[in-house]
Amino acid sequence: MTLPLRLAVLLSGTGRTLQNFIDLIEKGELPARIRVVVSSRLNAVGIERARRHGLPVEIVPRKDYPSVEAFSKAVADILDRAEVDLVLMAGFTSLFHIPPRYLGRVINIHPALLPKFGGKGMYGRRVHEAVLAAGTRESGCTVHFADNRYDHGPTVLQRKVPVLPGDTPDALAERVFREECIAYPEAVRLFADGKVRPPASWASSEAT
Ligand code: GRF
Repeated sequence: MTLPLRLAVLLSGTGRTLQNFIDLIEKGELPARIRVVVSSRLNAVGIERARRHGLPVEIVPRKDYPSVEAFSKAVADILDRAEVDLVLMAGFTSLFHIPPRYLGRVINIHPALLPKFGGKGMYGRRVHEAVLAAGTRESGCTVHFADNRYDHGPTVLQRKVPVLPGDTPDALAERVFREECIAYPEAVRLFADGKVRPPASWASSEAT
């Protein structure tokens, strides 16, 4: 892979994950450039973060598109124009049908140990509420290659945290997010170094 790696960041919300990447890149700790930030929400806080750092932003409001296909085509067209090597879903809450040419080049981070506590509607606080309600003793985050299902696809890496007595969703979310800030850049480094690859069968197929 030629470095610096050319990234697109897809977001819908506060953009803390984007900020983590911006900071690492600016400090010279990640050999990457963010070529475009795509927001699926008009008023996502992440848009301002991107603009403050002079990054190109494209807003593709999901609600303006009649179907997931039309929305996905609009996103993919932006990725094509930006010429990116890797697409990072970073708090992106809209389903994106990955065109074959991007399969294996889209990764996502989820704030739980998939396959548990993932799927449609499982994002943000709800994930941590579900973890606490289930009474499990550990949680964490998962970076995975994305396919066309919510929070689904081969795992790149996970980092774990304990669930502590008396935890609140916010306390757990913060503990998990600290690990996310390590896990996601680590996954990008592994990808850049060619140390992780999507399944070979993906080279000739469409995402399921
Ligand atoms: C994180 O919990 C991440 O796992 C999930 O979105 C949250 C971050 O959102 N995919 P943001 O980066 O603050 O917008």
